[in-house]
Amino acid sequence: MIETAAISIAPSILSADFAALGRDIAAVERGGADLIHIDVMDGHFVPNLTMGPAVVTAVRRATHLPLDVHLMVSDPDRFLEAFAEAGASILTVHAEVLPHLNRTLQAIKRLGCLAGVALNPSTPLTAIEEVIGEVDVVLVMSVNPGFGGQAFLPASESKIARVWQLLLEAGRDADIEVDGGIDQGNIGRVVAAGATMIVAGASIFGTKDPESAARTLKNLAVAAAATGRQ
Ligand code: DX5
Ligand code: ZN
Repeated sequence: MIETAAISIAPSILSADFAALGRDIAAVERGGADLIHIDVMDGHFVPNLTMGPAVVTAVRRATHLPLDVHLMVSDPDRFLEAFAEAGASILTVHAEVLPHLNRTLQAIKRLGCLAGVALNPSTPLTAIEEVIGEVDVVLVMSVNPGFGGQAFLPASESKIARVWQLLLEAGRDADIEVDGGIDQGNIGRVVAAGATMIVAGASIFGTKDPESAARTLKNLAVAAAATGRQ
């Protein structure tokens, strides 16, 4: 089971060494990572191509951590079953591509996964208001999706706070995930705004010591959470 109230760190393997994924995943696991974030891109919804179910299967064998699969694809419904079978724990889809979001979220749960909905920086919260009762994770994109190593968009902070308010009003304790440009300088602020699940790629795997980078980010996040929401 994934702790929903606690702070989780989810290193994104997009910035890992693909020829040494097992080694890199073991390093962040030692550093206190709570989940492994896997970015699936189709070259259509976003201008990049990355990994498919076969990589998820391989990562599943390499770690006991839950796998947080972020589907940046135009037609996620086609692939839900394959990723669930490959070992995904959370399946996150983008609200922008789904006219029947409610149906998709129910399909994810039927497959035994937690259901996440991601919002691009330009997508308003109204896109998830009507399905707020169905979501386990709301993923706030803090960069335009497609690439690791981009700069954090500062407007994401107030968006996280508004998601927090929306969940409070709906009586939901879903996780708020933030993804894009998170580093030691801003992780405390996104946690203070209400984020509980923190994705970080370049600031972990782009360093010489991913284990210690993961540990430092986790410590900063836990310290910010102990101070409380601001
Ligand atoms: C961006 C991906 C992110 C990315 C984050 O499209 O969804 O998960 O890997 O990487 P950093 O932390 O480098 O911005
Ligand atoms: Zn992602």
